[in-house]
Amino acid sequence: MRTLTTIKQIGGHAGQSVWMGGWINNKRSSGKIQFLQLRDGTGYIQGVIVKSEVSEEVWNTAKSLTQESSVYVKGIVREEPRSQSGYELTVEDIEVIQLTEEYPITPKEHGVDYLMDRRHLWLRTPKQRAIMVIRAEIIRAIQRFFDERDFTLVDPPILTPSSCEGTTNLFHTKYFEEDAYLTQSGQLYMEAAAMALGKVYSFGPTFRAEKSKTRRHLIEFWMIEPEMAFVDHEENLRVQEQFISYVVQSVLTNCRKELEAIGRDLSKLEAIQAPFPRITYDDAIKFLNEQGFDIPWGEDFGAPHETAIAENYDKPVFITHYPASFKAFYMKPDPNRPEVVLCADMIAPEGYGEIIGGSQRIDDPELLAERFKEHELSEEAYQWYLDLRKYGSVPHSGFGLGLERTVAWICGLDHVRETIPFPRMLYRLYP
Ligand code: 4AD
Ligand code: MG
Repeated sequence: MRTLTTIKQIGGHAGQSVWMGGWINNKRSSGKIQFLQLRDGTGYIQGVIVKSEVSEEVWNTAKSLTQESSVYVKGIVREEPRSQSGYELTVEDIEVIQLTEEYPITPKEHGVDYLMDRRHLWLRTPKQRAIMVIRAEIIRAIQRFFDERDFTLVDPPILTPSSCEGTTNLFHTKYFEEDAYLTQSGQLYMEAAAMALGKVYSFGPTFRAEKSKTRRHLIEFWMIEPEMAFVDHEENLRVQEQFISYVVQSVLTNCRKELEAIGRDLSKLEAIQAPFPRITYDDAIKFLNEQGFDIPWGEDFGAPHETAIAENYDKPVFITHYPASFKAFYMKPDPNRPEVVLCADMIAPEGYGEIIGGSQRIDDPELLAERFKEHELSEEAYQWYLDLRKYGSVPHSGFGLGLERTVAWICGLDHVRETIPFPRMLYRLYP
């Protein structure tokens, strides 16, 4: 094979003649000149074909090219400050790999269902590419943040014998003769890992059979779950605000071009700097009732409640100290007020909803055993988890960040379906 230059690297070859491989994104012509919009996955570049400077064969080949045809193109790299890449290619030769016929996604507008059915092709469009590049940078920034702070990456299992976040939305499967479930959260295993390694984080897929068809819910989504020994509720929140600020600022630094390409308001992201505001559940209830919501103490918040609270801030806001009654069994009660727990949800600004759920964990074995009874969880299935409180129990805390909601917020997208390459949603398993 000939040596190819990528569009991303093309700046290093200004003035030289290079070969590149790519696809035709778009094409226009003005009589004696044809303009090819080429993409190769790393970026976009315009190829210029001047009739008087190429053979008739090359000119006619260029004319025959259709959207998404695959080609090798040879050309001279020219600086062109007006173009997005900063360069342009003066085409000398074209070799067609495949001429594409009737590509189903045209530059005109298509409905979302039409595009979702063709997600495998939709990914090629500039906006979807930009989102995937930003998603990858968010993942890199997340890992950098924890790696630089001496957290160890630990991988919890995907197939599990019991639930973490409640039994109502588990995906069931057979594990030979036994029953098994796809993981909802790796947290319980991460608590075991924190007792072995101190500070740990996981990054992996999680599954919830939630019959929710909203713009924030996926059936399969990716979570980052740090867990920290000798860390209390207060410090847990400090880590979270540092973490989110770091991720947002990294994306601003490293993906400015992509954010601009999808039309994100950068000033909104520039404002995301720690510390973040906090409001207790009690005060949030008071505020909501003043705003005309009718919500009694003890009831969980829905999306409209979260949005009404978040609208008061231009940064993410922590809602803390929720009633124990509707929160997870493992959350530690506030010693001064045991009816609420030492937990916080982080609500993103601009209506993106909860991106983090976290808490200090119960470290007392008796209280934990009591909670198992209240939640009707079998002590046998969780015996190993109880062991963590039996052999050198320590105060510890952790949280889970939903990757797709974070991508939706940072990219300013209306729906999480565009934040993951192949979304698994209610009634959608194809492609
Ligand atoms: O609040 P959740 O349910 O918390 C836990 O699972 C804890 N065990 C995490 C921990 O403390 N280690 O989920 C955490 C985050 C949510 O804040 C949200 O961002 C995301 O996961 N999330 C979803 N994202 C997309 N689709 C869904 N169906 C989601 N459910 C939760
Ligand atoms: Mg939650």
